[in-house]
Amino acid sequence: MPKFNVAIFASGEGSNAQNLWRVASKAGHPVRGLICDRQDAGVIKLAEQENIPHIVINKKDYLKKQSDFEAAILNQLIEWDVNWIFLAGFMTILSSHFLKMYFNSITQKFQVINIHPSLLPQYPGTKSYQQAYADKVNTHGVTVHYVDEGVDTGPIIEQQIFTRDIAWSFEEFVAFGKSIEHKLYEKVFLNFLNEHLE
Ligand code: GAR
Repeated sequence: MPKFNVAIFASGEGSNAQNLWRVASKAGHPVRGLICDRQDAGVIKLAEQENIPHIVINKKDYLKKQSDFEAAILNQLIEWDVNWIFLAGFMTILSSHFLKMYFNSITQKFQVINIHPSLLPQYPGTKSYQQAYADKVNTHGVTVHYVDEGVDTGPIIEQQIFTRDIAWSFEEFVAFGKSIEHKLYEKVFLNFLNEHLE
């Protein structure tokens, strides 16, 4: 029996996470839960409001112990019987030891997907919108990709380009970019859902 049991990982406001769990519920296949690595992340309140199973595994509690931090995450994923992970603004780099648990030997890929706010390989890292805005780019975009052992280097699944209006404030630029992120991640998620449950 194929399964597509998804956990979302997030660290921030949670707009992508919220959009994904709503899409999943609407499709009749709710996510198993949300993992958050920050006690003060906005996404926790959203999960509470919408009754999404969630757990905070606070990275700050595991300062020099990434392996313990990841072990705590894995325990929860096993409890939820998760076989796919969707990162949605998750700001911790997962180790190769962790990723190996999600390796699919047939596809030779990790069953871990990420959304990144640039047209990779441009602007990797954590400040993509800031850098692109400062560079006054005419076009920008977003990428959904498989995670690999590098940072923002995994195989690309889909990209979406958009034109930057030069009149936009930085906040308007990010808001527009995030609206594109939501649509692209939703599309990829639903494609995966259909593919893995047929
Ligand atoms: C999103 O723009 C996401 O693409 C980005 O963090 C933001 C989270 O916003 N992720 C990265 O930069 C990963 N390197 P959200 O909490 O509102 O979804």
